[in-house]
Amino acid sequence: MTNINEIAKQMVAEGKGILAADESSGTIKKRFDTINVNSSEENRMNYRRILFESTEAMQNYISGVILFDETIRQSNNDGERLVDIIKKSGSLPGIKVDMGAKELATMQGETVTEGLDGLRERLQEYSNLGAKFAKWRAVISISNKNPSSLCIDVNAHALARYAALCQESGIVPIVEPEVLMDGSHDIQKCYDATKETLLKVFDDLSFHNVDLKGICLKPNMVIDGSENSEKSSPKEIAEMTVSCFKECVPEEVPGIVFLSGGQSEVEATQNLNEINKIENTPWKLSFSYGRALQSSALQAWQGKLENEELCSKAFTHRAKMNSLAAKGSWSSQEEV
Ligand code: 13P
Repeated sequence: MTNINEIAKQMVAEGKGILAADESSGTIKKRFDTINVNSSEENRMNYRRILFESTEAMQNYISGVILFDETIRQSNNDGERLVDIIKKSGSLPGIKVDMGAKELATMQGETVTEGLDGLRERLQEYSNLGAKFAKWRAVISISNKNPSSLCIDVNAHALARYAALCQESGIVPIVEPEVLMDGSHDIQKCYDATKETLLKVFDDLSFHNVDLKGICLKPNMVIDGSENSEKSSPKEIAEMTVSCFKECVPEEVPGIVFLSGGQSEVEATQNLNEINKIENTPWKLSFSYGRALQSSALQAWQGKLENEELCSKAFTHRAKMNSLAAKGSWSSQEEV
């Protein structure tokens, strides 16, 4: 069995990042609604199959794919498991194991992510189904009075228990504390909330004896709230992000893979590129994008068989752009 430290390193191999294709049934329906496609099991399988069969992207730019429970059990129309299609390209299958963010009692507008009960058994099953890594997303929101320390506390605790259980099963945990972009706050507020969250998360990971060499951190970038009319430049975002992480993220962590969180495709690429232009960072800094890797591909597909190639091309292009950004060698000319 490959050791978790090796798997974690493979997840952030040079110029590679992770495709987040683990939209829950509700979220994928929302995505399909934007192109007027019915969210049937067949359509979900077909759309995701097109991405995973994009050989150029999968072999060169995508180190792993986060799957939803339905997808890790799914096969294409020829009976080939989607997990095997991913593996054939040399990429690693992963699985979302949290059960979603639920309202946190007594704390209006804040959530706690559920899914710890029975997790040990589920991880065993997912490991048998081929998962090499897992994901758990905690959600932290910013408002005048949030995030509360209670919200940060309970979410950090859950992330640590999840991460320890994953490592026990030989699965690398992606630890995802997402400070949401929603709101009109400025970048400093995001910096402070991200810092407070990450410090608590690493405190709890260490308290729960999690091996930091065998995790990947999946955070938000430090960025202005989406409803703030002031927009920091990519260079400012990159500097604030890296300086925040230097205060919070231990050097043993092999890799940080960002979520896109509502940034446009090109924004997410450009910001990652600026982040990677900064020298002397101890960790690999790459991507684990959902929307920022899939938006054009989804638009190109439109649920039609004849658009498969266009869909695959759009996905391959975004994967390649983000691969360049993961090395700090993207420029806007690459987009055309
Ligand atoms: P986005 O990149 O669309 O934010 O999705 C990444 C993800 O996996 C969120 O949990």
